[in-house]
Amino acid sequence: MGEDAAQTARFEARIAREDKIEPNDWMPEAYRRTLIRQISQHAHSEVVGMLPEGNWITRAPSLRRKASLLAKVEDEAGHGLYLYAAAETLGISREEMVGQLLAGTARYSSIFNYPTLTWGDIGAVGWLVDGAAIINQIALCRCSYGPYARAMIRICKEESFHQRQGFEIMLTLARGTPEQRAMAQDALDRWWWPSLMMFGPHDADSPHSDQSMKWKIKRQTNDELRQHFIDMTVKQAEVLGLAIPDPELAYDAASGHWQGGEIDWAEFRAVISGNGPCNRQRLKQRRAAHQQGAWVREAARAYAEKHGRHRQSTSFETRVAPAPQNEVVA
Ligand code: 3HC
Repeated sequence: MGEDAAQTARFEARIAREDKIEPNDWMPEAYRRTLIRQISQHAHSEVVGMLPEGNWITRAPSLRRKASLLAKVEDEAGHGLYLYAAAETLGISREEMVGQLLAGTARYSSIFNYPTLTWGDIGAVGWLVDGAAIINQIALCRCSYGPYARAMIRICKEESFHQRQGFEIMLTLARGTPEQRAMAQDALDRWWWPSLMMFGPHDADSPHSDQSMKWKIKRQTNDELRQHFIDMTVKQAEVLGLAIPDPELAYDAASGHWQGGEIDWAEFRAVISGNGPCNRQRLKQRRAAHQQGAWVREAARAYAEKHGRHRQSTSFETRVAPAPQNEVVA
């Protein structure tokens, strides 16, 4: 059935007066599809994002750092579950979303396809990646879709802890031995540009932004959020006494903003197309974790059936394409 013009007009009037759209409300099919796309990709990002950081839990330099990193990684898992639950309110099943990720047909944030080579990377990820995520997610707290906006409020509170623990690691290294300082600078050198890519392509090259801004899914554009991140982070780098790896970075008094060089968009396109440093490794790890966890899902399903709380969901395992046999880890 085509969409009724009157319903669309009523929907747009609701968006205009800042109503929150709830799961049982009427919404344009394209609005629903965009939210499913963005929220599921956000959830996938949280889950895959655990991998580069989890890599350092057993190698944290102290019990305090290990406890802090463990708590952060656990938080990311929870963020992923929140966001999958928010996406499910739009009519897509958890099995379908996870199946898309494992089959390699769903996107997740480009940033998580880079390796964490040193402990300094764990500081840079908390400081830069979670810092960028906070900038993006604070705007999403005002998203027009109720469940997404509400999930963001809880997630942002935890994200602040993530960013602070990352910055503290960087500060400790920057004020440490020359080797520790060099480790912090090396991490900043490798994570700066990929962190800028997290905000997406320039507005002029973003196929979704215009409509997402009209629907108030997005409240600020990719470039606005990126600029906010740059302006905030340059000052933090000064406190750390570390150099941002952009020789063109300079303060523009006319605009009141820091202006830098151009992002390598060829690298961005390569990474989001599956050809980043760790894309294949990340998917291989997720597929293996999913297969190793099959018994937990089967046990939960058996228990739910026995106690009459079974949810209608076709078996997911039968529909996931098995990992390609000749897969090569990057
Ligand atoms: N990584 C992967 N894909 C990206 C991307 C990125 N950094 N930036 C953009 N893209 C993709 C988009 O998904 C879209 O592809 P598609 O049409 O195939 O889905 C295409 O590039 C065009 O980009 P647009 O800007 O037009 O797309 P959006 O309007 O969706 O904007 C976005 C992109 C800003 C990432 C937006 O989707 C968004 O705000 N998502 C929610 C926040 C999020 O996902 N953050 C990821 C990090 S989560 C995190 O950091 C966890 C923290 O705890 C560490």
